[in-house]
Amino acid sequence: MTAKLTWLSHACVLFETEKAKIIVDPFLTGNPLAAANSKDIKVDYIFVSHGHADHVGDTVEIAKNTGAVVVANPEISGWLQIQGVEKIQHLQIGGAVEFPWGKAKMTYATHSSSLPDGSYGGNPSGFIFYIEGKRIYHACDTGLFNDMKLIGDEGIDIALLPIGDAYTMGIDDSIKAINFIEPKKAVPIHYDTFDLIKQDPITWKEKVLKYTDVEPLLIKPGDSIII
Ligand code: NI
Ligand code: MN
Repeated sequence: MTAKLTWLSHACVLFETEKAKIIVDPFLTGNPLAAANSKDIKVDYIFVSHGHADHVGDTVEIAKNTGAVVVANPEISGWLQIQGVEKIQHLQIGGAVEFPWGKAKMTYATHSSSLPDGSYGGNPSGFIFYIEGKRIYHACDTGLFNDMKLIGDEGIDIALLPIGDAYTMGIDDSIKAINFIEPKKAVPIHYDTFDLIKQDPITWKEKVLKYTDVEPLLIKPGDSIII
């Protein structure tokens, strides 16, 4: 069995397996690069990495439209429940939960996490998804940190890494991250959405080829890869 990963731009990723559809950080409304409309998103699970508006995005609307389970830390979960989200699954850094479609583990991220109205959003995070025998690390918003080596110890097949700089790692630190994690393939995310995070992904690809042994996978918003 195979599963599909579709990058909908920014940090928003859609996984489609035979058992479930899972979306991460569904920032679509107000996102100039969004490759889907939030009204058309039909998912079973929504993962939220941290409280910032470009990650919480359309979570409330999609959860209400679809009845999806939202997976987030307790602080974000509580805030979403106040907004009317009914199905919640807590996850906290270092913890993992088994789902009918696989497993997800919440990982450390070095960033911040206030919610759109200024509420406390707990700690920011990333995720490792275990789907159909593959391990996908979604770093979400983070700077480079040395413990990415521990994430690499899990044996990562695909790493989704921010390269936009300003709010997260830029290209050069993402190269260091790739060498810490040593995934089979790396996909750049969280760039070009706003002027402040414009990047040249070709430069990123060239540096991955020059300085790492990892395969760079450059995809456009809306493109899918089989995992
Ligand atoms: Ni952020
Ligand atoms: Mn962000």
